[in-house]
Amino acid sequence: MRMRVNGFEMVYEDSGGSGVPLLLIHGFPFDRTLWKEQVGGLSDVARVIAPDLRGFGESGMPTGMVTIETFTDDMRALLDALNIQKAVVAGLSMGGYIALTFYRQYKERVRGLMLVDTRAVPDSPEGKKGRDENAVLAREKGTAAVAAKTLSGLLSPQTFATQPDVVEMATAMTARQPVEGVVAALMAMRDRLDSTALLTTISVPTLVVSGGDDTLIPVTEAESMHKAIRGSQLIIIPDAAHLPNLEQPRVFNQAVRDFLKIV
Ligand code: MLT
Repeated sequence: MRMRVNGFEMVYEDSGGSGVPLLLIHGFPFDRTLWKEQVGGLSDVARVIAPDLRGFGESGMPTGMVTIETFTDDMRALLDALNIQKAVVAGLSMGGYIALTFYRQYKERVRGLMLVDTRAVPDSPEGKKGRDENAVLAREKGTAAVAAKTLSGLLSPQTFATQPDVVEMATAMTARQPVEGVVAALMAMRDRLDSTALLTTISVPTLVVSGGDDTLIPVTEAESMHKAIRGSQLIIIPDAAHLPNLEQPRVFNQAVRDFLKIV
């Protein structure tokens, strides 16, 4: 589906139905197809909504600077347009940065949080430098060159060995994202705020998920968030790395089903 929000055309999945609204925010450099196993596999228990962020997938890219707050406001505009007052807000990696910011800005709209292979801490000085280098690389050589740098960390050894279709899908998804969107998101991630202090203020049900083999954002980040968020649940999914929802969809979806019972 497509709709004009905040000055651009946003493309999104909406499974419809009367279940709990579940907003799924993709990471970098991905698009809404990251959630294909959840849009298809959870629509009996949730109204699954999965947008392409501005500059990614089939969504438009208006000119101007993008911050994590910009993406956050786009998510709020989407919920407004769909007449959804409260949703379970789930984000993977960069999507998690957005989910945490969404909680900071609009906590009255959040029924529960799912933080998947993400972190609360900001970029280190070295990390920021890496963002600038990747922006240059994207402009000079295209998105595929940036994506190629992280592909080996994206999926677990088990996924590489046994799921060629997932490897192919992840490779194609990361390589096809528009350069403008990729560069804007790199700058947004580079300049994002520290959400560590926010964690102790979270008072909605929260599920923290990590692939056991994630090397891009190690399990220790999930463990720290789980410790800091009162009453949160932590699930480590074996034989998955940065994209557990794609690598182990059955296990991931069961965790979401269980979580939705308590939100
Ligand atoms: C992502 O998957 O969204 C990225 O790995 C996040 C990041 O680069 O910080």
